[in-house]
Amino acid sequence: MKVIVCKDYDDMSKKASDLVISNMMEKPQIKFGFATGSSPIGLYKNLIAAQEEGEISFKYSKSVNLDEYVGIDPNNSQSYSYFMHKNLFDHVAIKEENIHLPKAPEADEKYAIAYRKELEEFGQRDIQILGLGVNGHIAFNEPAKKLNKYASIVELDKSTIEANSRFFENEDEVPKHALSMGLAEIFDARMIIVLANGKNKHEAVKRLLNDDKISTDLPCGLLNLHPNVYLFVDEEAYNG
Ligand code: GLP
Repeated sequence: MKVIVCKDYDDMSKKASDLVISNMMEKPQIKFGFATGSSPIGLYKNLIAAQEEGEISFKYSKSVNLDEYVGIDPNNSQSYSYFMHKNLFDHVAIKEENIHLPKAPEADEKYAIAYRKELEEFGQRDIQILGLGVNGHIAFNEPAKKLNKYASIVELDKSTIEANSRFFENEDEVPKHALSMGLAEIFDARMIIVLANGKNKHEAVKRLLNDDKISTDLPCGLLNLHPNVYLFVDEEAYNG
């Protein structure tokens, strides 16, 4: 894993976007796996700016997304689909038919199975963007004895519901289930770019980098097994 310690959020976003931009220049038909949450917003802003300056184009790029809450309409402002449009897709020239977003109107595995097929047809991603949960989750793969290989309907951890309640009126409004890409699918990406900032990510980052043993109780720790991971981490998340 390549660890890049950055001064702050802006520096982290800049360094990560420089890496994404250089890859896009090399391969305009790049395939992305995108993430939601506050961690990648700065990176997406920089990509939009780079497109406006004519440095890169999204015309030939394709994307899939990591996850989505169950039972939330894509037009609802809390949905990850809405997030992606607002923070990236509405501002770049990516074609609608090249955008793949998971959908699960209800907690039924058939939606997860449909997304597995969609991911398989999409093929290998060149770059997967990832954030970290405060408990070390990746996408919505929560710490557990066993982790899903493939896209599944998952139950959210209490700590995740608490952390994500900041985007909702109150904790009760946070959906209890999500459709999440599985570990084998996340790890299929050629390159994984992880973004972690802020003190509340310190514990997960510390364990990811220092734990001697790999365990499913820290899903992000499994990233140590992927051959091409870049971790962009700000000083607060790195030092605590
Ligand atoms: C959510 C998402 C993750 C994301 C994480 C971190 O639970 N499912 O994909 O990485 O939270 O979010 P944030 O970047 O807002 O800290």
